[in-house]
Amino acid sequence: MEKYNTEIFGSSLAGSKYVAEKIKALIELNDSKGVSTVLGLATGSTPVIMYKELIRMHKEDGLSFQNVISFNLDEYSPMQPESEDSYWYFMHENLFNHIDIKAENINVPKGTLSDDDVSTYCNDYEAKIDAAGGLDIQILGIGRTGHIGFNEPGSPEESITRQVTLNQITLDDAAPSFGGVENVPTKAITMGVATVLKAKTIYLMAYGSGKSEIVSETLTSDITSQVPATFLQNHNNTIFVLDNEASSLLPT
Ligand code: F6R
Repeated sequence: MEKYNTEIFGSSLAGSKYVAEKIKALIELNDSKGVSTVLGLATGSTPVIMYKELIRMHKEDGLSFQNVISFNLDEYSPMQPESEDSYWYFMHENLFNHIDIKAENINVPKGTLSDDDVSTYCNDYEAKIDAAGGLDIQILGIGRTGHIGFNEPGSPEESITRQVTLNQITLDDAAPSFGGVENVPTKAITMGVATVLKAKTIYLMAYGSGKSEIVSETLTSDITSQVPATFLQNHNNTIFVLDNEASSLLPT
């Protein structure tokens, strides 16, 4: 499996600890140089254990997030930040409320924009990432459609932060947490493929047998906007952090 940039672990816990260690090391290195660390963050079930490990590192090992600036990948639209279904809420519950990151350094796309405001807002989000110095580390999960962020099949490589319409598979996957597919917002604001590819280092985590097919397709098929995660093949510093199940269909 050496031709793929994979790190394969016996458990999702081990993979999550590996990524948390990488984040910790970069924050500490940047702190020692007096520069901030810019993190691109994801929601969903995949990064939750990694966030728990970062919280543990903050509480037990003294890891500080005072000099961290974060940008989340995406948010449903329409979505109120205080709603328990929002990614804003998810990030506060699973990470931000338990660490010392400054509120003003947290960026989660807004799910409350009027149609007139969307494009200015998205361009500003993109510019804010650049003004912060660009994403040092981007954390990704992967959807069954091969989406990264909410860049669904058909998303071009040059896409930037924008409003998108969610794919039916993505809506179906989100249905249980919304109590039915009819309650899932059909749109989202997401960083684009190009926004993600500008990150200096990308860790895509995928755990469990449910991710094995899309992981294999992402790494082995031709690059295509039909599977947006295949664009990661064009990024020279993307590490696929997998467990045995998620890596089980990769050719040896
Ligand atoms: C989340 C995101 C999505 C998820 C993907 C996997 O911010 O952008 O791309 O990473 O849908 O979701 P889980 O981890 O729940 O399988």
